[in-house]
Amino acid sequence: MVSSTLFAAFLPLLGFVLAQDGSITGPTSSAAAAGYSCDATKCKLPDCNCASTDPPGGLKPEDTPMFVVFTADDAVQSYTLDAVNQFLAQRKNPNGCQPKMTYYTSLNFTNYTLVTDWYVAGNEIADHTMTHVGTPPENEVSGNLVALNQLAGIPLKSIQGFRAPFLNYSVDTLKMLASLGFTYDSSSSASVPVTDDDTDAFWPYSLDYGMANDCLAVEGLCKGEPKLPGFWELPMYALFDNRGVDGPHLMDPWLDAANGETAVNDTATLEYLKSTFTAHYNGKRQPLGLYTHPIHVSRSVPGTTVTNSTINMINAFLDWAQEQPNTWIVSSIQLLEWVRNPVPISQLDSFAPLKCSTPSVDSSLKICNGIPQNENGLLAHCAFPDFPFYTCYGCPQEPPSPAQPAPPQATESGGQTRFRLAANCSTPFWDPIKGECICNSATCAFTDQSRPIGPNGANLTGDQVSSTGDGTDASATSNPYVPFNGNGAAPLASLPAGLWAATVVGVVGALAGAYGAVARF
Ligand SMILES: *[C@@H]1O[C@H](CO)[C@@H](O)[C@H](O)[C@H]1NC(C)=O
Ligand SMILES: *[C@@H]1O[C@H](CO)[C@@H](O)[C@H](O)[C@H]1NC(C)=O
Ligand SMILES: *[C@@H]1O[C@H](CO)[C@@H](O)[C@H](O)[C@H]1NC(C)=O
Ligand SMILES: *[C@@H]1O[C@H](CO)[C@@H](O)[C@H](O)[C@H]1NC(C)=O
Ligand SMILES: *[C@@H]1O[C@H](CO)[C@@H](O)[C@H](O)[C@H]1NC(C)=O
Ligand SMILES: *[C@@H]1O[C@H](CO)[C@@H](O)[C@H](O)[C@H]1NC(C)=O
Ligand SMILES: *[C@@H]1O[C@H](CO)[C@@H](O)[C@H](O)[C@H]1NC(C)=O
Ligand SMILES: [Zn+2]
Repeated sequence: MVSSTLFAAFLPLLGFVLAQDGSITGPTSSAAAAGYSCDATKCKLPDCNCASTDPPGGLKPEDTPMFVVFTADDAVQSYTLDAVNQFLAQRKNPNGCQPKMTYYTSLNFTNYTLVTDWYVAGNEIADHTMTHVGTPPENEVSGNLVALNQLAGIPLKSIQGFRAPFLNYSVDTLKMLASLGFTYDSSSSASVPVTDDDTDAFWPYSLDYGMANDCLAVEGLCKGEPKLPGFWELPMYALFDNRGVDGPHLMDPWLDAANGETAVNDTATLEYLKSTFTAHYNGKRQPLGLYTHPIHVSRSVPGTTVTNSTINMINAFLDWAQEQPNTWIVSSIQLLEWVRNPVPISQLDSFAPLKCSTPSVDSSLKICNGIPQNENGLLAHCAFPDFPFYTCYGCPQEPPSPAQPAPPQATESGGQTRFRLAANCSTPFWDPIKGECICNSATCAFTDQSRPIGPNGANLTGDQVSSTGDGTDASATSNPYVPFNGNGAAPLASLPAGLWAATVVGVVGALAGAYGAVARF
């Protein structure tokens, strides 16, 4: 049970999250403004990719998986993880793995231990500045890395991505990210539908030849700038209601009124989520994004106003999307790994970044390592008045700040300080109390849980298929395969693409009576 002081301390989050928007109102780029040219004979994967609407590596769209990128922004709290879990926890990708997502984490009001848990569960942790500022100074960005490493035990090398608060970034922000060793940014918008000639819905690309998105929105971008070889941009793909290019929706689309109406209408939102997905799927398979501020769809945060209708609508969309063959829900870094090494659908079985594994740690071991059953009772409570938090790695003397992201550790009453993650150990194996790594070898480390990939909705609960070929047994009896969409239904699995439009209409029609309009909050 959360104490009332904790409630009060975490509450201010709502205030500033509601103020942020991440909305666009029209095209943020055009071919003329982009002035983009890229020499595809010189720009080669895996480290260079020209901005293009075509799938990477010359793949045909029909050989290309359909990726749905799921991201969350801002502070990590029990409320926000509950919110994400209500959409992803019950799902499986076609290889039997629960989908991973990316958390662009800012640190005010973040409960560090939950970041550790989320990371150890296989999700991507990325940088969203320490105190949530637009066009951030460098210490807001680098301090976020340091504090997440020190207080959440996230290995520095695994924090590869950045999203700017309010999507407010500049040319200098991108240069700074590249100089700090980040792999990618995901702050720009793809703001023109894939069905329009002038679409800016490019697959993720490297900035060897400059940016091609947001050319009308950010000063000094594009026409070859900034040139950042090997640094990637993952555009955020807008969704479009029935007004097309004049009806874009970017973050938290379920908070927007659609089609020029004045009130939120979940039926209309579901309709355009599906129609945008279908346009991507039947076109060049550019990814679709669900870019969320999970606090807006939390049912547990005090003062919540989200309706069950909205939650159910988002799940209905994901249910439907997962019924379309070769659809995968992924994190930003999983998408990028695939773009850099784009294997066709037929070879996804052996594609490591989409696999899932569990760290091999005895469940009875008492070790503060990001696994709830192991770390229970071992967390340090850092009772700062502004935002109290829990951590495995010892409380700092003061909350981390851009000026001091790693304050000295406060000594516990017993006189013991904790050891921060060693660079040569993985988070689930690091014992911050003893200061030792319980596993350093690749063989004892992780157990692959992925299943051979079948057609979406295939019944893999029956006779086990052969192992994945990497020496691990794919038939762990403790984790029987559950059909990836959780209900075993696969009615659309073999539906030809041409029949989709009719299906969309049918499904929406059936739901129209079920969902009422809800007010925006
Ligand atoms: C913070 O994490 C602790 C430990 O998991 C949990 O008990 C508490 O409810 C969390 N509080 C919030 C607001 O996230
Ligand atoms: C974040 O926390 C710092 C340090 O407590 C504080 O100075 C700052 O005002 C906070 N920022 C926001 C946006 O709440
Ligand atoms: C972006 O952030 C900077 C620095 O915080 C601020 O001065 C500027 O007004 C912001 N721009 C927008 C469009 O919000
Ligand atoms: C909600 O949207 C649906 C689908 O676009 C539409 O048929 C319905 O009339 C809308 N409801 C309201 C109250 O506007
Ligand atoms: C909303 O859904 C939750 C979880 O299924 C349920 O407990 C709650 O009663 C529902 N609320 C309403 C108003 O239907
Ligand atoms: C890991 O690093 C620590 C400290 O540098 C060192 O003592 C230890 O031997 C290293 N362990 C391995 C397995 O490399
Ligand atoms: C899946 O296969 C198993 C074993 O062949 C069978 O018992 C089970 O009923 C099947 N499930 C479905 C949903 O077809
Ligand atoms: Zn934010």
